[in-house]
Order: sequence, then C-alpha cells, then structure tokens
Amino acid sequence: MKKIAIVGAGRVGESAAHNLAKAELCREVVLIDIKEGVPQGTALDIQESAPIFNFDTTLSGSNDLHAMAGSDMVVITAGIPRKPGMSRSDVLDTNLAVVYGIVDVLLETAPDALLLVVSNPVDVLTYAAWKRTGWPRHRVFGMAGVLDSARMASFVAMETGFSVKDITAMVLGGHGDTMVPMTRFTCINGIPIGHFLSQEQIDKIVKRTREGGAEILSLRKTASAYDAPAAAIAAMVDAISHNRRHILPGVAILQGEYGLHDICMGVPVVFGENGVEQVIELPFTPEEAAEFKRSAQMVRADLDRLKK
Ligand code: 2OP
Repeated sequence: MKKIAIVGAGRVGESAAHNLAKAELCREVVLIDIKEGVPQGTALDIQESAPIFNFDTTLSGSNDLHAMAGSDMVVITAGIPRKPGMSRSDVLDTNLAVVYGIVDVLLETAPDALLLVVSNPVDVLTYAAWKRTGWPRHRVFGMAGVLDSARMASFVAMETGFSVKDITAMVLGGHGDTMVPMTRFTCINGIPIGHFLSQEQIDKIVKRTREGGAEILSLRKTASAYDAPAAAIAAMVDAISHNRRHILPGVAILQGEYGLHDICMGVPVVFGENGVEQVIELPFTPEEAAEFKRSAQMVRADLDRLKK
C-alpha cells in the first residue's frame, strides 16, 4: 500500500503509526487529529526514529481530514475513550458523530479506500460507518478480536508457562462483556488448552479476557489500553498489505452468516488485499451458539439506538 491515514492521534493512533512505519507496511502514514500540533509533532517524533529502526516509511501530521486524500486505507481511532466504570456503549453518541464526520470527508477524498474502525463501541461504529459509506462490506471492518485473542493468549501463556509463540486463541462476538472466548479453538501448538488447564483455570482466563480492557483502564485510571490495540491494528494491516489471506477474528458485517443479518460483530475472517475476503462460519456447540447469540443481542441493542 502507498498511503495509510490514521485519524485520531491519541495513544492508539500514535502507537499504530509507529508500528506501521517500523514494519514498512506502506510508503506513507498520515496522522490526523483536531488537536493543533499534536499529529504533526507525533509524526515528526516517529519519523526521527527511522534512522534507528531503519525504515523508509514517511510520516506527516495534519489537523485537516482532507489529508486522507488518496489513501489506500483509513484507520479510525478518533473519539473519546471510556472512563473507569463506563461501558464501551456509554461513548456511542459522541463517537458516532465523530465517525460520521470522518466518513463524510473520506467519501470525498479517498473513495476507493479500505476502512478499519477501531473507535468504541467498535461493532456498532463499524456498522454505522459501513452504512454511511454505502460500500460493499469487504471494504469496511473493525478491530477487536485480534486484541481480545492476544489478551487471551497472553493469559494462557501466563497460566501454563508455555511460549506465546505456540498459543493460538480465538475470541468472537461483540467487543464487550459478552464477547465469546472460544476455548475449544484455543490451542498450544495444536493441543487444546483443556489438556493443560483445569476448567477452573480456563474459566478464570475467560473472565479476565472479557474484562481485559477494563483491567488496563482500572490500573491506569485515565488511559485505556493502547499498545496491544495498536499491535492488533498492525497485524490486520499486515495481512491486508501483504495479501496474506490470514485468518484473524475481525469485526465484519454479517449477511446471513451465523443466521444473522444486518449486524456487525467479531467472526473469523480471511483478510487479504480486498479487506474481508471471506467470513468463516464455524459450527458451534449449543453452548457456544447461545453465548454468540447473547453477544449478538447486546450489539443489536446498541444498533437499535442508532436507528432512533
Ligand atoms: C480495549 O479493549 C479500548 O476497547 C479497548 O482495551
């Protein structure tokens, strides 16, 4: 990819810009934020690390959304973060207006781009952005499951002491308290975690995964997670920019998969150069199906707020 715009130069946007540049996932990264001087200063700071990290990606900052012009991909991290005690849905109204404002300029300036939504509540905002664009669903998707799965894999590594490199975890559903950590598909070098961990240990990992974002927020008090979210953004961009056809959990528009229509939530996705190349439908056990349905109902409740 030639150009990626990141809208929102808070900690997630900043860390994502650095990851994309370091991995040379595109030629040019532009960071956009309303705070005067902030995206410019951040872009320059990252640029000055290039001789040390040895990357040729160029960075710039702007306070003007029109700087998205000609982007191959736009990543939206803008919006207000939740405060301790708030749910992700509590910031919906504010962040919806922010996302609509960005999408309207995106339609004018980068009509052929792919759009990755990161701002919360991510499932609803991805859906809202997709509707607003009128684009095919493969071009608009959100980041949540890569982050939640990385958290789960980290907790499995902490509990077992095995290398994270051997652990694959999968978290589906909406990015909230009802997310669905799929323990059946969570393995250590292909061996299901049940071989190593008791049900009690697995239950603890599931709970900690669901509360992973809140755990960071309650420790930091004034800042949500940003390093792991930014790493997750880079993993998705890497899959797309290299057309890897990498299977990652992603927030995708569902059009009949899992028996759901006109909703957006975390499912296993094949990511490649067109964005969402394919949504994978897994056969669920009755318990998994019930949890997935409950998660869909939570997302649906927020979507209904959009329609009012
Ligand atoms: C998280 O889970 C902020 O939703 C983000 O950390």
